[in-house]
Amino acid sequence: MIRTRVENLKEGDVLAYPVIDEAGRVLIGAGIPLKAIVIKRLKELGFNYVYVEAPGFEDVERLEMISQNTELEIIKTSKDVFGKIKRTQELDPQKIQHLAVTVINEILSKKNIAIVIDDLMVSSDYLFRHLARTMLFCSILGISMGYSENKLRDLAKAAFLHDIGFAFIDESIRNKKGKLSPEEIETIKQHPKLADVILSKNKFSSAVRKAVLQHHERFDGSGYPSGLKGEEIFELARVIAVIDVFEAMTSDTPYRKALFPSEVYEYVMSQSGKLFDPEIVKLFSKKIIIYPTGTSVILSNNLVGVVKSINPSYPLRPVVKVFAKMSDDGTVTYLERDMEIDLLKTLDVVIVGSTDLYGNIIDYERDISVSY
Ligand SMILES: [Fe+2]
Repeated sequence: MIRTRVENLKEGDVLAYPVIDEAGRVLIGAGIPLKAIVIKRLKELGFNYVYVEAPGFEDVERLEMISQNTELEIIKTSKDVFGKIKRTQELDPQKIQHLAVTVINEILSKKNIAIVIDDLMVSSDYLFRHLARTMLFCSILGISMGYSENKLRDLAKAAFLHDIGFAFIDESIRNKKGKLSPEEIETIKQHPKLADVILSKNKFSSAVRKAVLQHHERFDGSGYPSGLKGEEIFELARVIAVIDVFEAMTSDTPYRKALFPSEVYEYVMSQSGKLFDPEIVKLFSKKIIIYPTGTSVILSNNLVGVVKSINPSYPLRPVVKVFAKMSDDGTVTYLERDMEIDLLKTLDVVIVGSTDLYGNIIDYERDISVSY
């Protein structure tokens, strides 16, 4: 099985996993050769990556993920909460607590779960998908940071609620395509404060409130609403800030197509100590998987292969099943026999980009230099 971008799918490719909608219904089944019209539909549904069958890569397994039921539950709860809050200003802390416990327990039950940008299912609204993923990724990061049960729950709840203030901002501004006017930007910037009003009305703890109110504060003091700096910013808000930006940049939004996870990763790293807390960025870099199993990659020694398995402590140094060599003019020559390269043991080789199923480079970077 290989993971590929939907835009690189060709007629006849076969999905390894079905595509489901947010009600859990199968939209496109696995095991059937794709027709052009179905590929078009996948693009329209907003999918970026899918898993397809590929001869020779039957032994590549998909990474451990959160179950579809849990993801469905987060998306459903976010829709319910948003719908209700607009009408009644009410938010049930018990409901959010229950969701936080479900998500944390599920992550704890999976040994190697990491932060991976993969589309599990269709969700019609970018905001709901964003809340679900921010909650998941923050919880994964919080667990890896050794947070106590209480702290984890506060983090998960705040991550889920961080953009709840948008419920009170006109959808035409929130979903506007193109540039926002200075007035519209000011309106958008109200969302942390609007959320705080609701959270205090509904008796959320001060930890959850602070984490939500401060999620746009930035480590160097350039954020809002208060321009707090460094450790003046509540720790959980510093965690959400990293994940929020990372998630938003790797997703299609109403105003911009998703960037490659590798590009966003580089951006987050470059902002360590500037916009983001360097300690949190360091932990994030150990939990994020830019090239999940099944991704076709090109290595710095010009070999092309597919990520076969992840070394959990060094996700940027996976085991790669190599099948071709790329010359400087981009021609791909297939090797007589596949071979495996463990990048944890071959330290002079790094992944420099990803390719599509046919060896065409789709994302190439010259310097990924990461020190742990
Ligand atoms: Fe926000």
